[in-house]
Amino acid sequence: MPGPRHFLEVYDLRREEFVEVIRTAVEFKRSGYPSSSLKGRFIALLFEKPSTRTRVSFTSAISRLGGTFDYLSSNDLQLARGEPVYDVGRVLSRYVDGLVCRVRRHADLLELAENSRVPVINALSDRHHPCQALADLMTVYELKGKFEGVKVAFVGDGNNVATSLMQACALVGADFAIASPRGYWIPEEERRKAERVAEETGAQLTFTEDPEEAVRSADFVYTDVFVSMGFEAESQERMRAFLPRYRVTEQLISKASPEARFMHCMPVKRGEEVEPSVADGPRSVMYDQAENRMHTEAALLHLIYSVWRWI
Ligand code: CP
Ligand code: NVA
Repeated sequence: MPGPRHFLEVYDLRREEFVEVIRTAVEFKRSGYPSSSLKGRFIALLFEKPSTRTRVSFTSAISRLGGTFDYLSSNDLQLARGEPVYDVGRVLSRYVDGLVCRVRRHADLLELAENSRVPVINALSDRHHPCQALADLMTVYELKGKFEGVKVAFVGDGNNVATSLMQACALVGADFAIASPRGYWIPEEERRKAERVAEETGAQLTFTEDPEEAVRSADFVYTDVFVSMGFEAESQERMRAFLPRYRVTEQLISKASPEARFMHCMPVKRGEEVEPSVADGPRSVMYDQAENRMHTEAALLHLIYSVWRWI
């Protein structure tokens, strides 16, 4: 018997499904959530790393949709004492209707999913952050009312957030440009997948080392921390590689479209990847992105359990 579907990366959803999540989220934000979409459903959140937004946006969304949940830090589980990931997947999935997991290694997430009887949702891995990309593209849609002809530029580390944002832009047909220093590019394999998708949707993808080239005529300028969770040992060499050239400053954003907005997944290191006046200025939409995490996750859960019926 084939296993259930999972949401481990953006391309686990088809274009129509990805857009349906965003449309549903816009509707939920405007009119409220259906209070019984998750009635009788129990979701476990399994987190190996800290979280403010993802944890609370998911737990709040689950409660509002009538479901229940448990939050499990990996230290609370036998995982901390070396229980194999496949056993955690096989056992937990007999108790719950879904697993929302934040993991150190994407390979562990794949192993959990392969051994799970219920849908696994990626709440961030070292490779992907697809739930963030849903909220980001919802924010773009709210502000522009369309995806085609919109340009999103990312300046900084070719990390999990950048990878999922690139995949999402290519999927919905928005243009995407990224400027990163050599050695910090989006992994080649992920880039190739997005290029294949972009050929079908007509999205333009640009990869460069030059921040000014990336932001030229961009409608959105996005950045994230230079040192992601799990990369702390590389802090010093990363600061040398990224600073000062890859910081989003007033000067850099002035090279984008005159109406350009600033985006950030948060948490923000003001003064590192972004000038404080940009992060906290009138162009910034980062708090809307953060709010939209809850609306898009609610929409995703509603669709998975009450409409698409993945289980
Ligand atoms: N953006 C995001 O995923 O934030 P948290 O790490 O606080 O969940
Ligand atoms: N790239 C960051 C995102 C945090 C939400 C990290 O992985 O730490």
